[in-house]
Amino acid sequence: MRGNAEHRTLNAERRRVGNSRLPSAFGVRRSTFDVLTQFIFAISFVFALTGCRRDMFSQPSEKPLERSAFFRDNQMASRPLPAHTVARGQLNDDEAFYTGKIGTHLITQFPMPVTREMLRRGQQRFDIYCAPCHGRTGEGNGMIPQRGYPAPPSYHTDRLRTAPVGHFFDVITHGYGVMYPYASRVEPADRWAIAAYIRALQLSRDAKITDVPNDDRAQLEVAK
Ligand code: HEC
Repeated sequence: MRGNAEHRTLNAERRRVGNSRLPSAFGVRRSTFDVLTQFIFAISFVFALTGCRRDMFSQPSEKPLERSAFFRDNQMASRPLPAHTVARGQLNDDEAFYTGKIGTHLITQFPMPVTREMLRRGQQRFDIYCAPCHGRTGEGNGMIPQRGYPAPPSYHTDRLRTAPVGHFFDVITHGYGVMYPYASRVEPADRWAIAAYIRALQLSRDAKITDVPNDDRAQLEVAK
């Protein structure tokens, strides 16, 4: 029944408007007027959008180092920096702490006291940033070289045991050979903490009984 009713309405509509406005095989055929209205809508929408953007984009302000006649002395939009200005957070005045060197010489002593907290921090940072390649014990057999990356050297060699601590700081800061730098991810204090932990790892394989304080030696013997 419903089908018939629909059929009748369709026929009535066909008589009223003619075939051109009825559903065609490819969807609804639109009159020229409809198309024109939509076109005008689209155009005004685009104009509205670009109109807003222009105002926000081209502001009358100038960029800091842009050429400008505003100040007579330097012909720039900004003032020159007063001599010896240091940006906040960039006062790297402790050469040993920030470079691991004095002049061109790598330092052999830590530039701060090594504490238990520092070692803990170093262990945590080492396990995050270095162990994937160097392995938890520093043997150079981490998961990444096991999957094909060039294997790093073991820390337990005479060369690296006797290397100055500044060397470890320097390698973290600038990278070494195929190892990329970590300066952007590991801040200076953490680099020293990692260096201290590497020293602890090295000592764990190369300690003599005389390195253990007298009072603790008995404990080791009991453990044996
Ligand atoms: C993506 C792997 C990878 C990571 C992560 C990595 N290293 Fe290395 N590291 C290497 C490789 C490979 C070498 C050997 C580079 C060469 O000789 O070309 C190396 C070498 C070294 C050396 C020895 C330099 C020398 O004198 O031979 C030290 C020290 C070192 N890395 C410390 C670190 C520390 C500390 C970290 C963490 C902050 C770290 N590495 C993170 C791959 C890595």
